[in-house]
Amino acid sequence: MFNVAQFERYLKTGWLGRRFWYLKKMDSTNRYLQSLPGNRLCHGLVCLADEQTHGKGQMGRDWLSDPGDNLTFSIVIKPGHTVQLQFLAMTTMLALQKTMIAATGGKPLLKWPNDVVCGEKKAAGILTESRYNGQKLDRLVFGIGVNINQVRFPKSIRDKAISLSEMCHGKELERELFLAMYLNRLELSLARAMDGEQELLLSVNKNLAGYGKWVSVVVNDQPMDTPVKILGVNEFGHLMVLTAEDDVRIFKKERIQIIADSAHMISS
Ligand code: BTN
Repeated sequence: MFNVAQFERYLKTGWLGRRFWYLKKMDSTNRYLQSLPGNRLCHGLVCLADEQTHGKGQMGRDWLSDPGDNLTFSIVIKPGHTVQLQFLAMTTMLALQKTMIAATGGKPLLKWPNDVVCGEKKAAGILTESRYNGQKLDRLVFGIGVNINQVRFPKSIRDKAISLSEMCHGKELERELFLAMYLNRLELSLARAMDGEQELLLSVNKNLAGYGKWVSVVVNDQPMDTPVKILGVNEFGHLMVLTAEDDVRIFKKERIQIIADSAHMISS
């Protein structure tokens, strides 16, 4: 069971995670926060469930996570002004990737648009949802799943998933410490992202899988005829590539598979 008191001892933030809801079991922390009226939710609220019965993944997929082994939580952000949602989500994952490096000594990378991968295997993902009040953005919900100590995965994801524990040769990690380390880092990153700080973009790109490389790409299940060079992410969080014809193509929401070489594939 997640030890909230221990987590709060590690937490050094000003506002992020200071309101913390711990749920033993919930269908999905994202679904729950999206269902509540705006006046129940404050900026920086974090809601964590030890078990999700119907965890939501990207593109209508399920998020599978063994109860008590991993981190499944959602963060409420009430930006107050216009934000580049996709870039903010990438920033959120950059802070996660850096926390993973600090915790494991491994070298996970960001995979556009939303994952943290180690080699070809996924260690974490984010599901970003928003709710509006008329025209006005009421809340952003960043739902984050991180594989921490799980070592046996269901057949459907066995070849695609990895946990932090596996990244550090079976050592068990303290979930409370990891989450606090992450939120401590994320609070600073979010402030920088919301101020539009450009350095973050460099950092996102330096940590992007395939950055600067010529790769074969499959777009929405359609292989592109010729390889493209990954130019990086722009300030909107969109992925830019250079084609063999010297054109720059920008992907916004497409489903991209990057085939680094014939033997290695990174897919979303
Ligand atoms: C992905 O497919 O990569 C996104 C996974 C997001 C999973 C997290 S777990 C906490 C939150 N609640 C959900 O139902 N989904 C997100």
